[in-house]
Amino acid sequence: MAGSARQKRGVGGKAADTTQSSLLAPQSCLRVVISGASSGIGLALAQHYLHQGAVVAAFARRAELLQALSAQFPQQVHCYPLDVRDATAIQAAAHDFIARVGVPDIVIANAGVSRGTLTEYAEDVQAFQQVMDINVLGAVKTFQPFLAAMRAAGKGRLVGIASVAGFRGLPGSEAYSASKAALISYLESLRVELYRSGVKVVTICPGYITTPMTAHNPYAMPFILDADVAARRIARVIHCGKSFAVVPWQMGLVGSLLKWLPNWLYDLLFSKAPHKPRLPNQE
Ligand SMILES: NC(=O)c1ccc[n+]([C@@H]2O[C@H](COP(=O)([O-])OP(=O)(O)OC[C@H]3O[C@@H](n4cnc5c(N)ncnc54)[C@H](OP(=O)(O)O)[C@@H]3O)[C@@H](O)[C@H]2O)c1
Repeated sequence: MAGSARQKRGVGGKAADTTQSSLLAPQSCLRVVISGASSGIGLALAQHYLHQGAVVAAFARRAELLQALSAQFPQQVHCYPLDVRDATAIQAAAHDFIARVGVPDIVIANAGVSRGTLTEYAEDVQAFQQVMDINVLGAVKTFQPFLAAMRAAGKGRLVGIASVAGFRGLPGSEAYSASKAALISYLESLRVELYRSGVKVVTICPGYITTPMTAHNPYAMPFILDADVAARRIARVIHCGKSFAVVPWQMGLVGSLLKWLPNWLYDLLFSKAPHKPRLPNQE
């Protein structure tokens, strides 16, 4: 079903319920928009902010998971079941959230997919398209309808969840690495573009976090963190006003080292690295 049509009906009828405004938390509460709030890091971030009393706009495709979150925090969650590739659906959700709750303080573009991809397979071309559309353009589409209002308010944070995988090209993860490198550069462009506007852009590069995305990785994942621990650390970075952080910091050291490795040494070390499995297209 088209995201916009689903969103008009809302989860459990909530988004379209005109009595909803009477249930809203006070305007002084933090207003947070999170894409990919149905699972993993996005869900943990949503729960973190909800426990602090925030009002959260939760974006993701799986309505039933958003509904479960809403049931836990019935007066604080606005569910928008949508696909981040659907700009019209996100624009409708943004207008609805701003009208009901106000201009967000934080918008987190977290939704993402990861799958093994190899350029030599014709069928993987579609997978490249999917990964780039969700991981890169999905972030642009998530920020776009909020930016003018945040600029006018002269405050707020736009947060992108990138990855250490964007620091160097990982074998077997050609689409994912490329998407996260593109996202890191996009976020930097946006940060400079918004210099002194009052709207800050924050780039978060997680290392390994325990979520469904990493559940079947057939290789060692050093310094792996639980999603709720990662969410707390990410929220701290957002709060303290840093523009860039790797979580956990140990992966930041690894990432910095990787960036400085000369190509011949990087190629030698990584040519035999285990690959993320290629999966049949699940869409
Ligand atoms: N886990 C890690 O180790 C790790 C490391 C570095 C970076 N990251 C990044 O962290 C972010 C979250 O990943 P995760 O580990 O929490 O994975 P996850 O548990 O698989 O969650 C991914 C989230 O993205 C949403 N999503 C995916 N495609 C979407 C679409 N087309 N439209 C709307 N929502 C969509 C999913 O919701 P629906 O399926 O319900 O739509 C889900 O809520 C991703 O950007 C990922 O690349 C993760």
